[in-house]
Amino acid sequence: MTATIKAKKSNNLAFPQGIKRYGLKGILNLIFRPLPTLESNRNRYGDIYYSPAFSSFPPFIVIGNAEGIEALFSADSELFESGTSNTAFQALLGSQSILQLDGKPHQKRRKLLMPSFHGQRLQSYGTIITDITQSVINRWQKDDIFSMRKITQDITLNVILQAVFGIGQDNQYDQLSQQISKYLDLFNSPLYTSALFLPILQQNLGQWSPWGNFLHQKKKLHQLLSKEIDKRQNNIDSEDILSLLLSATDENGEHLSQSEIMDELMTLLFAGHETTASSLAWAFYWLHSHPECYHHLQDELNTINLDTDPTAIAKLPYLSAVVSESLRIYPTALFSFSRTLTTSWEFMGYSLEKGMSLAPCIYLVHHHPDIYPNSKEFKPERFLDRQFSPYEFIPFGGSNRRCLGYALALYEMKLVLATVLKQVNLKLVSSQPILPVRRGFTMSPKGGVKMQVKEFFNPSIVE
Ligand code: HEM
Repeated sequence: MTATIKAKKSNNLAFPQGIKRYGLKGILNLIFRPLPTLESNRNRYGDIYYSPAFSSFPPFIVIGNAEGIEALFSADSELFESGTSNTAFQALLGSQSILQLDGKPHQKRRKLLMPSFHGQRLQSYGTIITDITQSVINRWQKDDIFSMRKITQDITLNVILQAVFGIGQDNQYDQLSQQISKYLDLFNSPLYTSALFLPILQQNLGQWSPWGNFLHQKKKLHQLLSKEIDKRQNNIDSEDILSLLLSATDENGEHLSQSEIMDELMTLLFAGHETTASSLAWAFYWLHSHPECYHHLQDELNTINLDTDPTAIAKLPYLSAVVSESLRIYPTALFSFSRTLTTSWEFMGYSLEKGMSLAPCIYLVHHHPDIYPNSKEFKPERFLDRQFSPYEFIPFGGSNRRCLGYALALYEMKLVLATVLKQVNLKLVSSQPILPVRRGFTMSPKGGVKMQVKEFFNPSIVE
């Protein structure tokens, strides 16, 4: 049940209106019906509203307009901490990764990881991405039916393992990629997803209980990653992330501990492929349910060859607009990390006290009627007609916590789409609209987007 709280006066500035307390129904709505719940909260309380504590989540102020996002993202980042409020991710990813760091240690970790996702290093991933996509296409036969979400997960997982982690393909590689998928696929089940949000369900009653199984799968994954770390200890190539983490030292010359490295690998694995896989599956869905957009994109792709420089492919304007519009309409992360105040602060006319958290709501901003008229319609042209500010279009969050892998995600989405669409004519198996469904912390297309191979454009691919 929800009820409006009275505006609280402090220093003559009102406190945002909002929800008074969550009952069980309110919590379940937030977990399993987040989009209508966010929309109805906005209709009731406005663009900026209060959400009280529930389960392990602290009370926070939801920000659903560009003005609020600008005030937050352009403020001095020392006013906030995010690591301390990111405790919900600990069960899944561990407690010692970049997500849980703040201040100087956070800056230092970003500086260490950043080069792996930008510049020359990023460009060098282009061929790996197209090769991995090509090997998937080569396995397809006419009339094959598959879940596009599974295909894109397979591609993005291989990209992160090979390109970013530098893990070579051997027996252990197959075991590792299967175990990662098994671990993350647990969150297709509402029971496992609920447990992430409700620690009371995190009861280990043995391997056959849901949480016991989750811990067992996590342990198996840790064992496989530990083997990789041990293998690499003796063969540090200075370029890839695993080598960087192994060779990094702090000001006292101390190396990162094994558990710090493990948690960072888990975080990058998760952040680096789950989100990209769902975003790509959405892009395939939108294109194939909007023939005019599909044909517009095919016209543009006709201007390039498969051996065109990947960086040139990534600059194609309509392809870029399709990717942006897919990330806008159903963002895989509904919120970016919340920012907890380290001191009292006046925000948008409200007086907030130290300890209050601010939660930028990506979904509400992306569906703000002042920024995106008819926001539920898929219209890539929006991104050709005007340029949106970094406070209006925020699929990757912003400021000092902006997604570290955003450039890789965009590059990967464009190259995978171009490589597939230039060679394969696909169709959606059902004409029913597909809605987002929760998969752990992210949102994913319900049913995974079933698609079928109609024909191959390049006859040399056909068996
Ligand atoms: C479409 C794909 C992706 C989406 C939608 C996405 C979204 C996000 C969002 C919303 C945040 C929080 C930002 C904030 O609070 O301001 C974030 C953080 C992060 N993302 Fe991504 N991400 C994607 C892909 C990736 C990839 C490919 C990687 C790396 C391999 C990655 C690594 C990270 C990391 C390490 C952080 C934490 C940054 C920090 O705490 O400083 N993400 N991402």
